[in-house]
Amino acid sequence: MPGLLLGDEFPNFEADTTIGRIKLHDFLGSSWGILFSHPKDFTPVCTTELACASRVSDEFEKRGVKMIALSIDSVEDHRNWSKDVMAFNDATETTLPFPIIADDKRELSVQLGMLDPDEMDSEGLPLTARCVFVIGPDKKLKLSILYPATTGRNFDELLRVIDSLQLTARKKVATPVNWKPGEEVMVIPSLSEAEATVLFPNGVTSKELPSGKNYLRYTQP
Ligand code: BEZ
Repeated sequence: MPGLLLGDEFPNFEADTTIGRIKLHDFLGSSWGILFSHPKDFTPVCTTELACASRVSDEFEKRGVKMIALSIDSVEDHRNWSKDVMAFNDATETTLPFPIIADDKRELSVQLGMLDPDEMDSEGLPLTARCVFVIGPDKKLKLSILYPATTGRNFDELLRVIDSLQLTARKKVATPVNWKPGEEVMVIPSLSEAEATVLFPNGVTSKELPSGKNYLRYTQP
């Protein structure tokens, strides 16, 4: 059974969090959103990830992206764990700049296909994998990434993909390998040369290839 697919409406679930009970769509409002799951509270990789997420939260805010984490423990555990996370950052603040969902019954983890069958807790129950869901202002799923519990994520990469998603939502372009904001982008293949000339007044340059097909077209967005 496939889980959530790109373009699906993201479930408007209700959940208890460190900022109280929320309904996801109300929490997101008209913003973009990023939901990232964690295997367990008080674990080392998760602690480094949440600490990093906290350090770069201004960058998500700048992009109009609301952050929300999830882990399979209680609100009380999350609040206590947050103190460790902030201490790891040498911060005086003890709360995180975004909420953590308490999925202690694993209901959301099951619903959203987030469990990692290879990692168990002390009772033999599966832990959550490291999922990332980016949700657009239309509440549709724009991107998902699924890492096993044993591999920590790269939050610079998450900001990079959000930059790409937000740019490609506005313009008929696609971002090439290892693209960073400010660099050239590709004109999408479905645009004719005439359309590309009108849409990209900064100009379009093509790379000639043996096939002779003029599909590798760069522009400055
Ligand atoms: C961790 O966050 O360190 C972790 C959690 C579950 C399995 C492996 C590592």
